[in-house]
Amino acid sequence: MSQRTLVLLKPDAVKRGLAGEIISRIERKAGWRLAAAELRTFDRATLEQHYAEHVGRPFYEPLLEFMTSGPSIALIVEGEEAIAGIRMLAGATNPLEAGAGTIRGDYATITRENLIHASDSVESAEREIKIFFPAHA
Ligand code: TYD
Ligand code: MG
Repeated sequence: MSQRTLVLLKPDAVKRGLAGEIISRIERKAGWRLAAAELRTFDRATLEQHYAEHVGRPFYEPLLEFMTSGPSIALIVEGEEAIAGIRMLAGATNPLEAGAGTIRGDYATITRENLIHASDSVESAEREIKIFFPAHA
């Protein structure tokens, strides 16, 4: 089934020049395409909405600090089973537990700076697309 999912290439991906590599991996998957893209330094209010489920967790404040530290690239990716598919491409949240061949497994070491966000369900994708691309919701 064709799905839309919200992907963020986090500030570490842009800073380290890995945005092109990550987008290439996504684009190479048959039938997946970019439906929207924007480079922007997100403000705290936007990220508070995005990460609402994590309020109060010990990593929440450092996460918001990191996510507002520089530009990210927000994408809508559209295609067959794109939601689970991009989560697989991204790998486990902790890069040291992410398999070789995944984005986090290949390029990241610490959990906070793990390069990529991808929606984890149909409901999350709808909610997150509204936050970052209200015109596409
Ligand atoms: P989470 O939604 O659990 O992971 P994912 O991005 O794989 O959906 O957490 C959101 C982000 O919060 C995660 O990508 C990195 C950060 N984070 C930490 O810094 N430390 C942690 O222990 C966890 C669980 C997450
Ligand atoms: Mg998550």
